[in-house]
Amino acid sequence: MAAFVVSPSQLHRVLLLSWLLFAAGVLCFLPRHVAAARVGAGSYVTVSAASLAASGTTCDDPAPAIAPRQLINGTSAVLRLAHRHGPCAAPSRSSVQPGPPFAEVLRADQRRAEYIQRRVSGARGSNGNLKLTASSRPATVPATMGYSIGTLQYVVTVILGTPGVPQTVELDTGSDVSWVQCKPCAPPACYSQKDPLFDPAGSSTYSAVPCAADACLELEIFGEGCSSSQCRYVVSYGDGSNTTGVYGSDTLTLSPGNTLSPFLFGCGYAQTGLFAGIDGLLGLGRQSMSLKSQAAGAYGGVFSYCLPPKETSTGYLTLGAPSTASGFATTALLTAWNAPTFYMVMLTGISVGGQAVGGVPTSVFAGGTVVDTGTVVTRLPPTAYAALRSTFRAAMARYGYPSAPPIGILDTCYNFSRYDAVTLPTVALVFGGGATLALEAPGILSSGCLAFAPNAGDGDAAILGNVQQRSVAVRFDGSSVGFMPGAC
Ligand SMILES: *[C@@H]1O[C@H](CO)[C@@H](O)[C@H](O)[C@H]1NC(C)=O
Ligand SMILES: *[C@@H]1O[C@H](CO)[C@@H](O)[C@H](O)[C@H]1NC(C)=O
Ligand SMILES: *[C@@H]1O[C@H](CO)[C@@H](O)[C@H](O)[C@H]1NC(C)=O
Repeated sequence: MAAFVVSPSQLHRVLLLSWLLFAAGVLCFLPRHVAAARVGAGSYVTVSAASLAASGTTCDDPAPAIAPRQLINGTSAVLRLAHRHGPCAAPSRSSVQPGPPFAEVLRADQRRAEYIQRRVSGARGSNGNLKLTASSRPATVPATMGYSIGTLQYVVTVILGTPGVPQTVELDTGSDVSWVQCKPCAPPACYSQKDPLFDPAGSSTYSAVPCAADACLELEIFGEGCSSSQCRYVVSYGDGSNTTGVYGSDTLTLSPGNTLSPFLFGCGYAQTGLFAGIDGLLGLGRQSMSLKSQAAGAYGGVFSYCLPPKETSTGYLTLGAPSTASGFATTALLTAWNAPTFYMVMLTGISVGGQAVGGVPTSVFAGGTVVDTGTVVTRLPPTAYAALRSTFRAAMARYGYPSAPPIGILDTCYNFSRYDAVTLPTVALVFGGGATLALEAPGILSSGCLAFAPNAGDGDAAILGNVQQRSVAVRFDGSSVGFMPGAC
């Protein structure tokens, strides 16, 4: 959404125009889906209240793997990406698995955010400064755990083995080891899932990784010894969930014509925790075990994704594309020396309604910002959050929307139930080097609340959550992270 800068006098005209369009929409009794077209402009944006609603029972976009046509050219793979609890992830309407209540998601989200912050805060040197480097090659250091995966919300379907079988897996930029549940495995060791369990004995290309293989030694803390000369793995996540089994390799088909062979992954024979129905997990972190690293030879270490703006539409995951960052607002990729899995960038400021939010020294952002697909709500240093909140509330006050009770950690909520259209100030995030990410309405509000929350302290790592990434293409390469709004 374009964030034109307007002067105060222009602003009055824009507001008047917004109001007239809004009133016209109401008077003409426009159907809500028609009003979903954005009629606002400039530093404020008007969207239909219906477009802010989270759910629906029909997928708007049931077509397989679509993405900008130019991305598909033999050196890149494009996968369709869907919300785990939405209709686009389910083969039929009756198989939609409703997600937990939002308040519960936010509680799990807080555990994940705190876990990430604990991991990154260990990076502080004796002088209290965070040691971030611009190195594109993070050192591999022990990590004791993965982290809470209860909030992972986006899935892709890949084809595993020969003959290939579809597996729907959660996408996680915050962990490295991929895994699926494997046959034979009876409940409760394996939970019930969407597709039949992957059967390694039924795949002519599967093999267990031998204990002496480099791939087994590279598991380091994710290795769990040797059994019947097969390499065993274990991943324990921050919320107490875990998966353990045999480390194996097989052919992974990402999209027609795009296979990765061998692909190393965990064949899970015992899982405990919050996995709820999905077939497994695709680790997109930065260490050697991740899909991104394993695919680097074929796809150049570049990947991108676009998380859909709502549960009823789809986005995409690409490997190897776009080949250049042109069209993206890019900022340097940073590494916390003790949490090398994470994609870190430096957030430097926030603007609301086209104006920089004042009173926020850049130093409060010094802990860096983790770009994470698994955290829901963006976490900010408390000083930055307080300034954003008061500026946002003041900008909203002129419309007189009634407030609504807080939901968990979200304390700035509105009741839009009497409105067909809602006007919001634009919110933009500014990153190191000046890259600006202008958020769309679905990236500002969630369940009627300002979808940002404060960290425990200034200087803690901020987290760019998945609400703020919705409809934004996010591109990663060895040295930068790029953002392109309105991409899906
Ligand atoms: C296709 O891939 C090649 C090699 O990466 C690249 O040079 C070219 O620009 C790509 N074409 C399109 C249309 O993206
Ligand atoms: C997995 O978690 C369960 C329940 O917390 C625990 O009993 C089990 O020992 C864990 N397994 C591993 C391999 O860590
Ligand atoms: C929103 O306002 C309506 C009345 O306009 C009320 O019935 C409803 O309970 C309110 N919802 C919340 C979450 O406050």
